[in-house]
Amino acid sequence: MKPGSSLIKHYLQFKDLRAQEYAYLFERTRTIKTRFKNYERYQPLVDRTLAMIFEKASTRTRVSFEAGMYQMGGSVVNLTTGDSQLGRAEPVEDSARVISRMVDIVMIRTFEQAKIERFAAHSRVPVINGLTNEYHPCQILADIYTYIEHRGSIQGKVVAWVGDGNNMANTWLQAAETLGFTVHVSTPSGYEIDPSVAGIRDTGCYKVFDHPLQACEGAHLVTTDVWTSMGFEAENDERRKAFVDWCVDEDMMAVAQPDALFMHCLPAHRGEEVTAEVIDGPQSVVWDEAENRMHVQKALMEYLLLGRIG
Ligand code: CP
Ligand code: NVA
Repeated sequence: MKPGSSLIKHYLQFKDLRAQEYAYLFERTRTIKTRFKNYERYQPLVDRTLAMIFEKASTRTRVSFEAGMYQMGGSVVNLTTGDSQLGRAEPVEDSARVISRMVDIVMIRTFEQAKIERFAAHSRVPVINGLTNEYHPCQILADIYTYIEHRGSIQGKVVAWVGDGNNMANTWLQAAETLGFTVHVSTPSGYEIDPSVAGIRDTGCYKVFDHPLQACEGAHLVTTDVWTSMGFEAENDERRKAFVDWCVDEDMMAVAQPDALFMHCLPAHRGEEVTAEVIDGPQSVVWDEAENRMHVQKALMEYLLLGRIG
């Protein structure tokens, strides 16, 4: 396939796929997860190789992609900035041209979204966003699958976002627009969502609240993230002060729906963005959410490489 070919399907933002494709992916995830739980071998990606490029740290993304690819019969190459020419200023376009001649699919975790877009434009194979400063689509894919597993369709529901207007928040907005639900957003002043960065057309898919408690009222799902994302560590001290009231606690969960779920993409800081009572409490589904990263990404890689099955 020629680099930049419109036949190559990338997954760089949540809005790269349509609602029907998500319906298909969630169904495939259910099948693939059930097989895994029953110890049934399923290896549609024998002889396929995934290259993973990490310019930021990771636990879940690394393990879920690597384990998932091996389970599907493929193999994995792991590159980081420190141990490749990426850290020595080789142009991203050249890296894309070379790497995509040798592997079948690439997952990248990096800083600016523009960088992964440039890589994809010069890649012969599908590229998946494993987190950028702007978006984290694989995480929201797992979060919505987890919601569906526990509660059924997310369409028409309310998701409360408490915290930073960051990559996770932007991706929740894209998901709301794509799948038809509403996000109630509460961020500290100075850390608001920017709809142009979020990349949404329909500002009706979210509502802004000054106080986090108001955002949680009636929500079907309450979710948050770290006060300081990777790459923003220099702002740590000022963020600690600004975010002190943006801690999901039992009072916030009490005003949400009685059967509301709590999610966090992890890693979490108990006592900062969430209390231990909430994240370790009965409404929290964070461990299912983490595990589901692997199942949804197996379905995603299968789809990008093989298209619809059956
Ligand atoms: N949630 C998530 O992406 O975790 P890692 O940073 O550990 O990959
Ligand atoms: N917003 C966080 C998510 C980590 C998985 C970050 O970008 O560091």
